Amino acid sequence: MMKEYNIALIKGDGIGPEVVDGAVKVMNTVSEKLGFSLKFTECLAGGCSIDEYGVPLTDETLNICKNSDAVLLGAVGGPKWDDVDASIRPEKALLGLRKELGLYSNLRPALLYEALADACPIKGVTSMDILIVRELTGGIYFGKKGRTDDGAYDTEEYSDFEIRRIVREGFRYAMGRDKRLTVVDKANVLETSRLWREVVKSEAGNFPEVSVEFLYIDNASMQLIGRPQSFDVIVTSNMFGDILSDEAGEITGSVGMLPSASLGDPGKPGMYEPVHGSAPDIAGKGIANPLATILSAAMLFKWSLGEDKASDMINEAVNKVLENGLRTADIFKGEGKLVTTEEMTSAVIESL
Ligand code: IPM
Ligand code: MG
Repeated sequence: MMKEYNIALIKGDGIGPEVVDGAVKVMNTVSEKLGFSLKFTECLAGGCSIDEYGVPLTDETLNICKNSDAVLLGAVGGPKWDDVDASIRPEKALLGLRKELGLYSNLRPALLYEALADACPIKGVTSMDILIVRELTGGIYFGKKGRTDDGAYDTEEYSDFEIRRIVREGFRYAMGRDKRLTVVDKANVLETSRLWREVVKSEAGNFPEVSVEFLYIDNASMQLIGRPQSFDVIVTSNMFGDILSDEAGEITGSVGMLPSASLGDPGKPGMYEPVHGSAPDIAGKGIANPLATILSAAMLFKWSLGEDKASDMINEAVNKVLENGLRTADIFKGEGKLVTTEEMTSAVIESL
């Protein structure tokens, strides 16, 4: 019998539906070629779910995701929901999915494609290939927060267990790459960071081949611009990973190129989404870059379905269309051919 996988599809808001539609077409093409089938179940999350059900994330959506092999998500949020009560903002859907699905490990590869070297805003930089491993279900995002009489607070808390499992992921990915791990923290100020360092040092013995570098977040932000080509794997907390991944994205030329995978324990569904947001300013215009979502689909094939061949095919196809000069508006720098979301998607499908 033909292998069939269940994929939960959350198109979300803004450009989400456009870029997810592109990725689904690409996924269907690949699965047909390789002889497995994909069953997509669409569900709502984010602003569209607030409109429909009054909440950003329903139990129904959560259950569909929990019972799937993987989740593909476009983007959530937009100005329409900026003023809603903080407890029902669209972003709550993302945070809820991450927490409820136990997706503690967020992989954000930042790759500067040779063909896009022109799009890199840093003079003289022609290569970069970094994997950011961001802790995703702890830290200040999920710590105690609230208001006092005349103030407000958010709490950064990490247990040894939470740090250890993500640090190990960092080491493992480094082992599969260039065997260099950069740990980003603020150990000169934060107690949680000091615990991160202790845990890293105690784990390092299990990965003797990996060389470890510690950087404070402020310095790391600077080094990332100064010597982006020199990093291999970066492992860091939820908040610092959020910030650094946007910075790394900009160095690749456009955050429209960055895919991500959010993973939990083995055997549990992972969630895949472009790093960019819902880009309400260009939503519905058909000009969004679908590549980050298409590349996220490639990660989905590899990390959740074990269909490595499918993943490689997509990555190669994307590389080829970039080499052929196709550019959506975000990566168009005057040279090559300016294309729409649909044209870019079709080109990827053709090159498959
Ligand atoms: C990201 C986003 C989210 C985050 C927001 C939308 C809550 O910026 O995925 O990087 O901060 O994690
Ligand atoms: Mg972010």
